[in-house]
Amino acid sequence: MKFHILTLFPEMIEQGLNNSIIKRAAEAGHLTINAVNIRDFTLDKHNKVDDYPYGGGAGMLMQAQPVYDACRSLTEGKEKKPRVIFMTPQGRTFHQEMAKEFAGEEELIFLCGHYEGIDERVLEEIVTDEVSIGDYVLTGGELPAMVMIDTIARLIPGVLNNQDSAEEESFSGNLLEYPQYTRPEVWMDKRVPEVLLSGHHANIAKWRREQSEERTRVKRPDMYEKYLEEKKRK
Ligand code: ADE
Repeated sequence: MKFHILTLFPEMIEQGLNNSIIKRAAEAGHLTINAVNIRDFTLDKHNKVDDYPYGGGAGMLMQAQPVYDACRSLTEGKEKKPRVIFMTPQGRTFHQEMAKEFAGEEELIFLCGHYEGIDERVLEEIVTDEVSIGDYVLTGGELPAMVMIDTIARLIPGVLNNQDSAEEESFSGNLLEYPQYTRPEVWMDKRVPEVLLSGHHANIAKWRREQSEERTRVKRPDMYEKYLEEKKRK
């Protein structure tokens, strides 16, 4: 899968996504990360990409032309136009189901705003999806784009070693993950739950399911409601 990121801070993306699992996945050819510097597309002789808002108001706005040309450089001549996701607190709130949907695409373009925003006309022209990562305001779209890319990337087949991991963890099936333990068996007088040492796979599975249910009920009652409803329907 190809991730393109339109940004004024490509080094932020390159550094942020060049580690650990995502780095390994890129090296193995499961995905590519292509950070495109919007400033490279300015026609202004001082490389300016922003200007004052008409009508007045605080701050500067990113101008339409460099954003449009940067996007065009990725879509020009392509038969299937990739979706263009604009990171904005005005968008739909990102969640795991949305990540699954995006993971089905071959190519995605993320548009990261900075300053006080982007000229509305170019947004109307190129954006297919507006996504927020939560009800708070960040200084730019780069961190939100990285959050989305990280979440989507781990759903791509082959990215996680273990085929089960993507399925089993928190938020799959509206249940949180059960608690886990590794060596030593006793730490600060706390013992690993006996059942996990038993080697009895059915009992372990049952215990984990119960723990997941109880955790979800206590920590995320909203999610637990959904889980119960889903269970009833099955
Ligand atoms: N840009 C600034 N804040 C944001 C948020 N919460 N989600 C997505 N993009 C943003």
